[in-house]
This record gives sequence, C-alpha cells and structure tokens, in this order.
Amino acid sequence: MDSAKVNTIVVTCSPGLVEYVRGEVEGLGYAIGDCHSTGLEVRGSEVDAMRLNLHLRTANNVLFLLKQFECVSPEELYREVSEVAWEEIISPDEYLSVVGKIDTAFVDNSMFANLKVKDAIVDRIAGKCGRRPDSGKERDGVVVQLYWKDRRCWLYLNTSGVKLSDRTYRKIPHSAPLRESLAAAIILATGYDGKGPLVCPMCGSGTLAIEAALIASRRAPGLLRSNYGFMHTKYFDEGEWRQMRSEALKASKGRGGKAAFRPGRIVATDIDAEAVEAARKNAATAGVGHLIEFAVCDFAETELPKGAGIIVMNPEYGLRLGDIAELEETYKRIGDFFKQKCSGYTGYIFTGNPALGKKVGLRTSRRFEFYNASIECRLLKYELYSGSKKGLDTAKRVWTVPPFYWW
Ligand SMILES: C[S@@+](CC[C@H](N)C(=O)[O-])C[C@H]1O[C@@H](n2cnc3c(N)ncnc32)[C@H](O)[C@@H]1O
Repeated sequence: MDSAKVNTIVVTCSPGLVEYVRGEVEGLGYAIGDCHSTGLEVRGSEVDAMRLNLHLRTANNVLFLLKQFECVSPEELYREVSEVAWEEIISPDEYLSVVGKIDTAFVDNSMFANLKVKDAIVDRIAGKCGRRPDSGKERDGVVVQLYWKDRRCWLYLNTSGVKLSDRTYRKIPHSAPLRESLAAAIILATGYDGKGPLVCPMCGSGTLAIEAALIASRRAPGLLRSNYGFMHTKYFDEGEWRQMRSEALKASKGRGGKAAFRPGRIVATDIDAEAVEAARKNAATAGVGHLIEFAVCDFAETELPKGAGIIVMNPEYGLRLGDIAELEETYKRIGDFFKQKCSGYTGYIFTGNPALGKKVGLRTSRRFEFYNASIECRLLKYELYSGSKKGLDTAKRVWTVPPFYWW
C-alpha cells in the first residue's frame, strides 16, 4: 500500500465555516484548489490527510479521493466500485460503513446507492481474500463515502470516520451545546490569540472556553482523539502518525517541556451550577482544565480581568430553548452589562435571533454570519469603549481574515 500516493483531498465543513477552514488549511501550507460553500480541495497523500485530521479545528471530514467516474445506473455503480482494488485498502477483519450523498435521477434513494457500493466492496474482498468485512452504520471503522451528482460519481475514503467536530472531550453536554468546530470558528472570528483575557459568561458545557484554551495553547485538536477512519485502512502508517502526534504535542504550549505556559486569563461562568460542573469536567478531559477559571454566577457578576480582553456570550435565543419575553430582558441586561462593566473589552454575542440581538441596544461594529445546524446565526461584535476610543487597541482587532496559525 502506498500512503504517499497523491490525489485530491476534500475537506468538508458546515455551512458558513469554509473561510475558517481555508485559513487553517492555508496556514498548514496547502494550496487551495476548488472551494465550495461546504468544503474545499487540496492535493495530498494519505499522510497529508492524517495531518489535516490532526490539526483542523473548523472542519468536519477529510475525504481522500479514490476514484471518479461516469455513472448512469446502480449496476454501473456496482461495476465501477468493484474495479477498485479494495483488498489492498481494507482487511476482511475490518468493519466497513458506506455513507453517501445523491443528487441524480438514476437512483431515488441514497441508502440503495450506499448498499450497492457496500456490496461491490465486500464482494470484491470476499472474492480475493475468501472472507468479507462486517458492515453497518457505525463510523468507527473504515468509512467509504459516495457523492453521486447527475452522471458523475466520486468515491472517497472518509479518513476522519466520525466528524472532526466530535473532539471527544465533551463527555457531559449541557443544554444546547455548540458544535466544537463552530465554537472554534467563533473564537477565531474574534481574533483571539491567547494573549489577552477571554471571558465566557453563560458558558454552558464550556465549549467556547475550551476551544479558546486549545487555541491559546496551540494544541492540535486531533490530539484528543484516539480513533480515525484512516487508522483502519491498509494505508495507515502508524510510525508516521506517532511522529506527527509527537511533533504536534511538542509544538503545543504547556506540554512537552513548556509546562510554565499560561495564556491570558480565561474565565468561564454560568448561572447553572450543573453546567459549570459539566464544563469543568469537559475542560479537564480536554487537558485544559488548568487554563480556565470557572465560577457559578449570573453573567453580570462575572469577574472581568484587567486589560483589553474579549468577552463572548452565547445566550439562548428562543428557537430551541428559553422563553422569548424572558430572553428579551436577558439581552437587554447583556447590553447594560457591556455598557456599564465591560469598557475596554470587545464584546461578542452569538445568537440565532436577530430580534433579540436588537434588544442589546448597542451599535454593532461587525456581524459575522454563521449557521448553527440549519439556523442562520450572527456573531455580533461590539466595541466597548471606555468613554473615548483612546487607549483601545481597536486597529488590531479589525478582522479581515482570522489570524489562524501565524504564531
Ligand atoms: C445556549 S447555552 C450556552 C451553550 C454553550 N455555548 C455550550 O456550548 O455548551 C446558554 C447558557 O446560558 C446560561 N444562562 C442563562 N441565563 C443566565 C444568566 N442570567 N447568567 C448566567 N448564565 C445564564 C444557561 O444556564 C446556559 O448554560
């Protein structure tokens, strides 16, 4: 098996995150090819796919292209898939799952197409090896991904397996947790570089604070995971992976001999003691518990460290949680808190409800567009000047492209 063979790699992401993924991928030194609303392409080998899996914070999946072909029937799909030397990629002892996205008139359901792909793979392996791999829905073994658009099919190895946004540290989710990849993108959008203070009132299960601590300590998010799709293929070069992990560990601050590292203070609070307990445990699992100061309190009582910091809040916004009338009052109180207690900071509110955002009663200096699942959301930015603009480092905070990995 040749793990150095170069082909197209597609890095997929949730809607609204592609510019963040682009920044990260470019920061890792890759030239970007085609770019779509939910993904982009680079050229690389299986080793590059491992590297992208290890380092990307805002992506969902890293797909390695195996084959693309014209296809106008399920029978043709079976035949084309059978032609791939699967016995060189998948051991009969492995577990296989096939996922797919179909946008073609030649089949009317993606499950049927997935089944054809699965049959072609296991029949080929059984023919060559005398045994066939087990298959099913779990994505914890080899994952093969089909994309069938009109008359054309693309067949990929999904080298991530389970989505990269599942970092595995969130053992205890609380109410309406943000996806880790979205939380990372929000933190990157604020321009946070780990130097100044970062405050997360309403922290819930702690996702924003934890992602910020991972960013501050330059810790590759993939270090937290022990299972990836690529580990189950015959391409997998375990020595290379160990080496890559150990380099990433050395590069992260506070590990590998840099134990004295401390970013600016990161403070996370919530009115719900259970949420804070969950956040504390999740942060410990992520290995950043020592970098975050937790407290149980109303957001308005949150202690703000001195300095021109960032305050980022994700209040409920009524679509999934919370009562609107009560939330209107909460958003108004957030505006008062920003005005009265947060001068010198840059404030951010992540919300999926523009009407509630207006209740804050302060002028936004910028609005970033995001999606939380299918809900269109905004990250609202507020410059919280202390009387005059003097003394505030606003020039550096004007965001063009997030300063991803140029540290
Ligand atoms: C949408 S959730 C935050 C989810 C979080 N971003 C995560 O990823 O887990 C909103 C949080 O605000 C908290 N909250 C609501 N009212 C609050 C208040 N007055 N003061 C502090 N926290 C409050 C809730 O307990 C809840 O944990």
